[in-house]
Amino acid sequence: MTADLPPKPAPRPDKVSLWRYMRLFRQDILSAQPARLYRAWMAEFRTPFFRSYLLNQPDLVTEVLKRRPDDFPKSDRIGEGLRPLLGNSVFLTNGETWKRQRRIIDPAFEGGRLRDTYPAMWAAADAAVARLRALRSDTVEIEEETSHAAADVIFRTLFSIPIEHEIAREVFAEFRTYQRSQPILNLAAFVPLPRWMPRFFGRDTRASARVIRRLITRLCDDRQAAIAAGTAPDDLATKIMTTRDPETGDLFDTSEMVDQVAIFFLAGHETSASALAWALYLVARYPDWQERIADEAAALETGDFSEISKLRITRDVFREALRLYPPVPMMVREATCPERFRDRDIAPGAQMVLSPWHLHRHTRLWDDPDAFDPARFGTENGKTCLREAFIPFSAGSRVCTGAGFAMVEGVLLLARILRAFRIEPVGDAPVPVAHLTVRSRDGIRLRLTPR
Ligand code: HEM
Repeated sequence: MTADLPPKPAPRPDKVSLWRYMRLFRQDILSAQPARLYRAWMAEFRTPFFRSYLLNQPDLVTEVLKRRPDDFPKSDRIGEGLRPLLGNSVFLTNGETWKRQRRIIDPAFEGGRLRDTYPAMWAAADAAVARLRALRSDTVEIEEETSHAAADVIFRTLFSIPIEHEIAREVFAEFRTYQRSQPILNLAAFVPLPRWMPRFFGRDTRASARVIRRLITRLCDDRQAAIAAGTAPDDLATKIMTTRDPETGDLFDTSEMVDQVAIFFLAGHETSASALAWALYLVARYPDWQERIADEAAALETGDFSEISKLRITRDVFREALRLYPPVPMMVREATCPERFRDRDIAPGAQMVLSPWHLHRHTRLWDDPDAFDPARFGTENGKTCLREAFIPFSAGSRVCTGAGFAMVEGVLLLARILRAFRIEPVGDAPVPVAHLTVRSRDGIRLRLTPR
């Protein structure tokens, strides 16, 4: 099974100077880490300004994310690069503000609503297959295509508009500019900058955040007007903008809605695009699975939501892609009380790092952790690890709002694309690096042949 492993970044040597660590970190947080993190239960990083602890032991991960999330709020360092764009979005807030926002947002993503959202996803899958068929070359850089498809899914489900819509297109283009100017989400959370040091956002970052927010404000204002006129479509935006907080009766005001739409777009399209691109690469590399998915996808005929639950193999392949290349490779929380974990005293203010990247490849938890084997989820080890060591969407009360949504979207797009095409890898194996999400350093090139 271990013979032909999918790509994994080379780790750094165990001991490096802080300066070198920071330089490596700037390039890519995955290859900046030492190999011992794949077998450690807990690791400590000492820096001149704060301590960080990486937690891999399942019960410690559970303690932080599930049992006592209020004692481990999101570190405000995480928002460093994103605040100009995301303002007070649910991704960045803590405490009462966050709880209120989730009370309004969560109903839009409940199971029943997913059924209502499904036709828009189906239409986005049609459009994605049509775009791929229309490509002039048979070799494609697939991350470009999956970004396009995932952005299309978000606009269709949130605002009932396709990515070709003028505003959707502009938002999509401007997000790319923003990412280029502010490329690494978590950098500030790990790098030992003291808190008093001012943070500067480049002029480009601020300007592009302003453009995006202006465009999204137009969408929200138009929608507000349509709701008032009784002509609004029944999509996610309408649902969120008309849901009252069950405790206070309040609705989101426009600026708060703009914050949330910005995060839905960012968290919802970058991540799904990354997962789908890696899933397609993996099945290109291990083509037996491709055939099995294509067979299974024959069950997708009517566009009826109930069909998706029949795609068990596709789901396991998508899960295995999320395990090997978790789009959000690491998350950070901050200890607010003194703790004692594995005989170590942890002081308030310490940064607790939860790393799906390391947990998902942990050598003491998973059988054959670096191998691509979707069948593992049918084994005892796979089932146990799925419960205890698989957190691509995080876990606990702060779990990804879009987890159910993303599992339907990813499985549907993967199945529909493989029903339409045979795919093969082209050129060198991609090198995973973590920017905003886990991407390939030089893109992922695939050859598509219509079936
Ligand atoms: C494969 C796709 C996706 C993955 C792997 C993913 C992963 C994650 C993870 C790990 C977090 C927690 C981050 C942290 O705690 O620091 C998160 C949060 C979030 N995600 Fe996703 N996500 C995906 C798709 C989506 C989609 C489609 C949406 C919305 C349409 C979405 C909306 C959000 C939001 C709003 C949060 C913040 C939740 C909170 O802090 O309360 N995500 N996601």
